[in-house]
Amino acid sequence: MDLFSTDDYLRQSNDGAWDDHERMEYLVAEIDRLNFEYYMNDRSEVSDSEFDAMLRELTDLEKKHPQWASPQSPTKRVGGEVNKSFNQVTHSIPMLSLGNTYSIEEIEEFEARTRKLLQGEDFSYTCELKYDGVAIGLTYENGKLVRAVTRGNGVVGDDITANAMTIPTIPLTLRGNYPPAFEARGEVVYPFEAFNKMNQQREADGDEPFANPRNAASGSLKLQNSAECAQRKLLFCMYFMMAKQGVELRPTHYERLQWARQMGFFVQPHIKECRDIDEIKQFIEHWDKARWELPYGIDGIVIKVNQTALWEKLGLTAKSPRWAIAYKFKAERVSSPLLSIDFQVGRTGVVTPVANFEPVWLGGTTVKRATLVNADFIERMHICEGDRLLIEKGGEIIPKVVGVEPTVEGMRKAVAFPTVCPECGAKLVRTEGEAAHYCPNDGGCRPQIIGRLEHFVGRRAMNIDSLGPERLILLYNAKLVRSVDDLYHLQRNQLLGLGAEQSASIREKSADNLLAAIEESKKVPFERVLYALGIRYVGEVGAKKLARHFKTIDAIAAATIDELLQVDDVGEVTARSVHDWLADESHIRIVERLRQSGLQLQAQQVQTDGVLSGNTIVVSGSFNHFTRDGIKADIESHGGRVSSSISSRTTIIVAGENMGPEKLKKAERLGVKIISEEEYLKLVGQP
Ligand code: IVH
Repeated sequence: MDLFSTDDYLRQSNDGAWDDHERMEYLVAEIDRLNFEYYMNDRSEVSDSEFDAMLRELTDLEKKHPQWASPQSPTKRVGGEVNKSFNQVTHSIPMLSLGNTYSIEEIEEFEARTRKLLQGEDFSYTCELKYDGVAIGLTYENGKLVRAVTRGNGVVGDDITANAMTIPTIPLTLRGNYPPAFEARGEVVYPFEAFNKMNQQREADGDEPFANPRNAASGSLKLQNSAECAQRKLLFCMYFMMAKQGVELRPTHYERLQWARQMGFFVQPHIKECRDIDEIKQFIEHWDKARWELPYGIDGIVIKVNQTALWEKLGLTAKSPRWAIAYKFKAERVSSPLLSIDFQVGRTGVVTPVANFEPVWLGGTTVKRATLVNADFIERMHICEGDRLLIEKGGEIIPKVVGVEPTVEGMRKAVAFPTVCPECGAKLVRTEGEAAHYCPNDGGCRPQIIGRLEHFVGRRAMNIDSLGPERLILLYNAKLVRSVDDLYHLQRNQLLGLGAEQSASIREKSADNLLAAIEESKKVPFERVLYALGIRYVGEVGAKKLARHFKTIDAIAAATIDELLQVDDVGEVTARSVHDWLADESHIRIVERLRQSGLQLQAQQVQTDGVLSGNTIVVSGSFNHFTRDGIKADIESHGGRVSSSISSRTTIIVAGENMGPEKLKKAERLGVKIISEEEYLKLVGQP
């Protein structure tokens, strides 16, 4: 539908000359085209605001005429659909993996074997990049994307269509000529730049950063809200086109990929048709070095027989095709002299040794620091002063010390782990059975205090987002805040003008905002306050379980170790940590001051005589009116007890969509009453 240009649209959209249906069709095609130009050809034909205006108009029209809204509409790219759970789908053709090797000799053997098997045939190979991401399969019917499924175990994967639709390089409607039915397979990768930005944001928000772009891509595809996935800036690299029965494609893999590009897929240009092993080896050698210049990660090279008619002739082994192989790059390794070791103190007092070494170029960046984990690690690796460290960077972004370069024994001096805290001088403690050394002076050791404050204000804790690390340091240096409870005693006049010469300076408006955010945090529910306290080994889940079980901080403080052990997932180490923390004089004082300031130190009132009291309830599947945690909280608020597994004590099962067949069988066997979400709502009086 290239009949009209954007200019035509802008001219005509306001004069009402088109009827809505026609305009919707036009907008779908034009937004798709602009999207293609932007992402594939790096060309913006309209401004962002014009583009947004078109998208908004289409969204409005779809609301007005839902019967005309296309399931492949570009409005789906914004996301917003909530995946309660991901349906399992069986691949129509299994998604095989490839035989892989780190050895060039094995690539030579593969080539020789293939040549022998294909004696007399005229054939070639394609060499292409092996993307380091998550494999997915996209089903197209009559030019429309109908389903996106992860590889899963190769036979069954998860339906992630709503999330896949938010990835700009996945065409929703194909362009030009296309086969009537086929599957496009490829890899979803997280480009480095977007990955780094997202991870920095996560750290700033107090969320755990992803270890590498692959994990992040995989996590993104499993996000429950597709609008969040839309923010992730993922890239789909298409590498394989597979016909559905009876559909003719092109005779070579190379031509199929070029064709796919014309249909609107992102097919990276670094694909080479090779005639012999020397050309293959040249391609591999080139990319082993050049890979770091790419904007996304690759972990090897894939070599495929180009003529697809020969694939059948070569056949499959048990797991992978005989017509392709993957060469995997070895993790890059360098050596560099150890210059010094910093001993860093974290928020929980744990002292982590960090090696400083001569800067070296590794995996596309200059690296000069890497963790040495703990004293055991240093000992195990026999790391001594003046050693040359061996440093690797594989799929991970962070360099890893993997050993030391052998040197003459006898001249080496073992690294001594400090006995006192490098920050405050307190004697370090190492508990029996634990690898870490830690500083016990939690009330007087600067990095611990700042770290605890940062944790306390974090998004998942008290969520005081106007208090970043710089401001916390300002408050600490001005001796206004030394402990989390001090935050609730800050006065406006104390804040004004703080750090005047720095970017974090606090002016009138920001002082007011800050105080308002602190005030607002008093509404944060008990379980998050408990997490915010930063008790060692008490993460978000642990805090939630403790809060639900004991209901108040006083009950937790009064609990014995044995009673703490009754809580799901609380083991010896956590129980002891919770017990000791709440018995400590200085912590008791903090809790008291927080209580006086009005923080939530007990769970919301629970009805003990509610309609569900006396019932042990299991929830299964996904729900329309609730998240899973939401329905559990609702059950408890009506006096019911939630249990995670079906047993003879279970009285009711609330079955959402997709309740597992195993659970269903067990429930039937035990004769437990099963009710639907609607019946549940009636039961608790919410029609
Ligand atoms: S072809 C039947 N080409 O590597 C052949 N795979 O085990 C299907 N991969 O799971 C795979 N880049 O996810 C192919 N250019 C590429 C690839 C590629 C990455 C992944 C794929 C597969 C694994 C190989």
